[in-house]
Amino acid sequence: MALFRSPRWRSRRSHLLPAIYLIGLLTLTGIALIWYGVNSDREYIYPLLTQLIPAGHCACLTSTTFQCASCLTCAHQDRLPQTALPSSPSWVFDPGQDGDNEALSRAQCIAAFPGLFEDLLRADTFWRENGGLQVEHLKHITIKHGMARVFIHRGELYVAKALSRGEDHRRKVLAVLSAIHRALVTNLERASYQDLEFIFSVEDKVTDVTTTDQPIWVFARSAGEEAVWLMPDFGYWAWENVQNSIGPYDQVVDHIKRTEIPWSQKIKRLVWRGKPSFAPKLRRALMDAARGQPWGDIKHVDWSKRTNVMSLESHCQYMFIAHVEGRSYSAALKYRQACNSVVVVHKLQYIQHHHYLLNYVEVERDFSDLAANLKALLDDPSRAERIANNSVETFRDRYLTKAAEACYWRMLFERYSSVWNSSVPHGSKNQQKERGVRYESFVLLDSRMMLDFDATSATS
Ligand SMILES: *[C@@H]1O[C@H](CO)[C@@H](O)[C@H](O)[C@H]1NC(C)=O
Ligand SMILES: *[C@@H]1O[C@H](CO)[C@@H](O)[C@H](O)[C@H]1NC(C)=O
Repeated sequence: MALFRSPRWRSRRSHLLPAIYLIGLLTLTGIALIWYGVNSDREYIYPLLTQLIPAGHCACLTSTTFQCASCLTCAHQDRLPQTALPSSPSWVFDPGQDGDNEALSRAQCIAAFPGLFEDLLRADTFWRENGGLQVEHLKHITIKHGMARVFIHRGELYVAKALSRGEDHRRKVLAVLSAIHRALVTNLERASYQDLEFIFSVEDKVTDVTTTDQPIWVFARSAGEEAVWLMPDFGYWAWENVQNSIGPYDQVVDHIKRTEIPWSQKIKRLVWRGKPSFAPKLRRALMDAARGQPWGDIKHVDWSKRTNVMSLESHCQYMFIAHVEGRSYSAALKYRQACNSVVVVHKLQYIQHHHYLLNYVEVERDFSDLAANLKALLDDPSRAERIANNSVETFRDRYLTKAAEACYWRMLFERYSSVWNSSVPHGSKNQQKERGVRYESFVLLDSRMMLDFDATSATS
């Protein structure tokens, strides 16, 4: 107490207070600047700020490296139980004829799409080594917004629970259910399927909804998230963004094919349009690497003012299209792959179902080698054209067709079933009540009822 009264302390305190205010002010300014750096969508922010932006969820230095650079040849085809091609053993996939055919047989799927089922085989092995899947696994998973619990009984799809926070979730959940339904009804043998039950999430990341050790179905995973099962994203059915309707993937592809210009007429620049604030560190690195370059055409989009908005088709008028991950994967990749252009991508961190086959020009996550890569491509236009041709042949005309999508879904049902070791009761006999509502009925519900849906409590 004596100390506090001493004149020496008083004089020190008179220095201390302003110092505390100053430190407080500096801290607040610092926080404000970092907040601005992370959330700003301006074209340019001061370089010191881009240094300060935390890598956050994009953890910029790590990325997924695929074991097989070219899984078309080294895929684990032999690990899939084979079925003989029925009618003609010499059947080969013809994009023009078969690309829209969602009813290819299992044998045709395997013959047409080597490497497509890689991640399913991985998840299959993971769960086999971990004692298989039981219904108890699902009981441990809380259904959060953007998730649904569904089951397939005698080849028909039932919704047990579905939870959405608003329109975006609801539409994505419906798109997933519809894609599953389409893959089911195009298979005449579906009634003989083993019953299965699963939970899916339409959120960007596994960790948005649950821990990484759960067997949920998701659109993307990071390399360490081994328990999850990858499903094709909602955009194959249709991307009906509240702000921006994009439509079914194959319709976008049709538009692109109709409006595509010859390679020689394409603009010799690298195009990118997007919101930097979705992944500031990563996206700003691209903007900085391309700023002032003669080949750069990188602009930020402001959706509220609709500045710099560019249609998907218009991207195809460029020889080079950049792709950057967002919060996790970016659903835009498949549209960029639909152009006969060279897709330039940084080393990816998130894996989607078709990523094992990726065929693009890969640059570092900080885009430090972007300029050198672009220069090499511009110096050798026929190599660039070959890469673009190859990309279209591999993706637009094969692995991203409706045929491939349906094959993938059915292989997902098959591989998941192969480790699923429980029966799936579809109703409780005592209560005369179904555990799930058939997909056909669910889609006819009032949209508000879909937001928080539980079949066992739904009044019928
Ligand atoms: C399924 O469960 C039973 C009993 O729990 C067990 O004996 C059997 O090995 C399991 N099968 C698989 C494929 O995990
Ligand atoms: C790319 O494909 C087009 C159309 O099929 C063809 O005319 C062209 O020769 C191909 N270019 C290269 C470099 O392979």
